Amino acid sequence: MMTNPYIINFPRIGNSALGYISVSENDLMPFETKRVYWTYYTPESIRRGRHAHHALEQILVAVAGNITVETEMPGGLKEKFILDSPSVGLFMPKYCWHEMEYSHTAVQMCIASMVYEESDYIRDYEAFKKLQP
Ligand code: TYD
Repeated sequence: MMTNPYIINFPRIGNSALGYISVSENDLMPFETKRVYWTYYTPESIRRGRHAHHALEQILVAVAGNITVETEMPGGLKEKFILDSPSVGLFMPKYCWHEMEYSHTAVQMCIASMVYEESDYIRDYEAFKKLQP
């Protein structure tokens, strides 16, 4: 039984006068964090992602701007998520095909369950479609 992608609402501490802080603490997280990376200055015409992973699980956060994430799971479940709040994350389980588009100002933070490993990528959509759920 595969887990599907889902939204995580991070705690939002503060108020409009002071500003806010959000925290990804381990009791809220479906995995232990091994790596954090971030992408920025992605042109609006560019679609990133277009792959799945054998083992890596990630949480995407639009810490600034808006990110549209389209996901597909083996078995065919397709979903579209609009990340437009710095206190919201999208959990993407392993074998989740994902494609993202960014607003001009978007900064995407990725909290990852594994170190970077190119052999973990499934970049061929036809190979992804052959996976059994
Ligand atoms: P990729 O994961 O394909 O990015 P996206 O999903 O945003 O399109 O990574 C893009 C390139 O960056 C690829 O050549 C691998 C490299 N990279 C690293 O070297 N280390 C990393 O931690 C990540 C995420 C990517």
